Amino acid sequence: MRTAIYPGTFDPVTYGHIDIVHRAAELFDKVIIAIANDTNKETLFTLEERLALWQYEAERDEKLRDVTVTTFTGLTVEFARQNQATALIRGLRALTDFEYEFQLALMNKKMNPGVETVFLITRSDYSFISSSIIKTVAKLDGPIRDFVPENVEKALRKKLKQKKSEV
Ligand code: COA
Repeated sequence: MRTAIYPGTFDPVTYGHIDIVHRAAELFDKVIIAIANDTNKETLFTLEERLALWQYEAERDEKLRDVTVTTFTGLTVEFARQNQATALIRGLRALTDFEYEFQLALMNKKMNPGVETVFLITRSDYSFISSSIIKTVAKLDGPIRDFVPENVEKALRKKLKQKKSEV
């Protein structure tokens, strides 16, 4: 059985990420969406919130029926080893992603030679989006519905309202 891990910060999950998982699910017997606790980013959503947002989408999507969603702490390659995964899935949007992804893939390969990084090229409609740009547009009350599911949009609007009232 071929297992792949799709690791990321997912702050929050977007249609770009969902598209990558749909395609990964066609290629592998088992796909585990792994939400990182140890990320270099300061996140808007907590780990539990990022998990709940992904779970909500996975439960309602026929194509994601066999996909597992979970969180992990520590190294991605260690998590892959624990789950007998042979591949890490990463989405590539543009040339600008390449250098970072190249470094990440080589370091992961060095730490766990048994795991290959598999890059999937992002669908062109989502090639210019990122979780950050969606958060920026949402903060300014701009339209984000084309890029995130309804539940994610609701959660984002709610979270940003909360943050605004805290300052
Ligand atoms: N469509 C739209 N956006 C996409 C996308 C796609 N197909 N693929 C990636 N992105 C965006 C994400 O939204 C994200 O945007 P942001 O920077 O604005 O948040 C960005 O591209 C990349 O984020 P993501 O895919 O979530 O990955 P990441 O770079 O945040 O995740 C980890 C990095 C979690 C994989 C890495 O930190 C990690 O492995 N951490 C665990 C600890 C570890 O092993 N560290 C050592 C690594 S050598």
